Amino acid sequence: MTRLRLKYAPFYHTFSGQLGARVVMDGRELVMLASNDYLGLTRHPKVIEAGKRALDTWGASTTGARLANGSRAYHTELEARLAAFLGKEACHVSAAGYLSCMSAVQSFAQRDDLIISDKNCHSSLMAGVGLTQARKERFSHNNMADLAEILAYEKAFTPKMIVFEGVYSMEGHIAPVPDILKACEGHDCFFVMDDSHGFGVLGRGGRGTAEHHGVAGKVDLICGSLSKALSSTGGFVAGSTALIDYLRTHSKQTIFSAALSPVQAACAMAALDLLETEPEHLQRLWANTRRYRELLASLKLDTWGSETPAIPIVLGSKERTYMFWQKLKDNGVFAVMSIAPAVPPGKDLVRTAISAAHTDADFEIIANALAVASGRR
Ligand SMILES: Cc1ncc(COP(=O)(O)O)c(C=O)c1O
Repeated sequence: MTRLRLKYAPFYHTFSGQLGARVVMDGRELVMLASNDYLGLTRHPKVIEAGKRALDTWGASTTGARLANGSRAYHTELEARLAAFLGKEACHVSAAGYLSCMSAVQSFAQRDDLIISDKNCHSSLMAGVGLTQARKERFSHNNMADLAEILAYEKAFTPKMIVFEGVYSMEGHIAPVPDILKACEGHDCFFVMDDSHGFGVLGRGGRGTAEHHGVAGKVDLICGSLSKALSSTGGFVAGSTALIDYLRTHSKQTIFSAALSPVQAACAMAALDLLETEPEHLQRLWANTRRYRELLASLKLDTWGSETPAIPIVLGSKERTYMFWQKLKDNGVFAVMSIAPAVPPGKDLVRTAISAAHTDADFEIIANALAVASGRR
């Protein structure tokens, strides 16, 4: 461990309580600016009630994988709801977004294929890429010229998988999906998009990044996590019926791992209901995001061009990042830091994410902490 990491100990803190966007650490209340509770639904009464009912009805766990001991009605119901919401024929849910995203890649690439992924893809996608025997190439983040150059050197008929995120979790950037599709025209490409941070956030009614761009039907597989806007845990892969059937019989992450628990499925489904019936959560998320962005701009902080509620504060060196993070904490705000090599050199950052649950009182604390951390107070 580095000297700075030992001194500041920025990771694996334990909170003794959590309510709304506040957590309690060492007896102090902090505003949570590091989680991905975009719609602020983790404490919504309907979500809590649904979780309790599922526990009463189904018990605590599935205690096994679906291939072996069967799916439950709540799995298939949630899958049908997610598929319909995303405009896909079918969906498969699993116990973690990490497993879902890994399986969306690993299950569909073979030895003679070529996988081309964005350099900033999430670890779950890269873990899937790493487990295949396909050839691998990476294009510079959101850089279409680079993607086109890689494609230009490949035989048009080589099967290619293009792997990218809808919204990049660290950077808050939106993938230029129509440009990706255009660059790939005529190159026999299969598209896998991880929309963990676009789902529930972008597009009509929160239908995600593909819908935001009007290309929902063109991305073959959309995978993601239930732990962000849907305030649960678990993951999903959505696509055509044929693809999802294939995934169910080929994904090691599904065949050999216990299924999504009843409580988590029920909470995700209740959150999806709310997304469809109570538009105010999404509206408040974006109102809060605009307000937060104005605050960051007034402090002249570098947000790496983030376009979404996931907003990094780029500080450029690990020393500055550690100190900024500590000052936020000292002044009542909990965020998370990321330093090179987890981010590109010079992009060391404190990653923040805004939620519909952040209140006026939270914003006052955030504004003060940011002003102190950036040396303006
Ligand atoms: C882009 C992205 N993909 C996948 C995951 C994994 O999701 P989960 O936390 O549900 O395993 C995450 C969560 O950190 C993520 O940010």
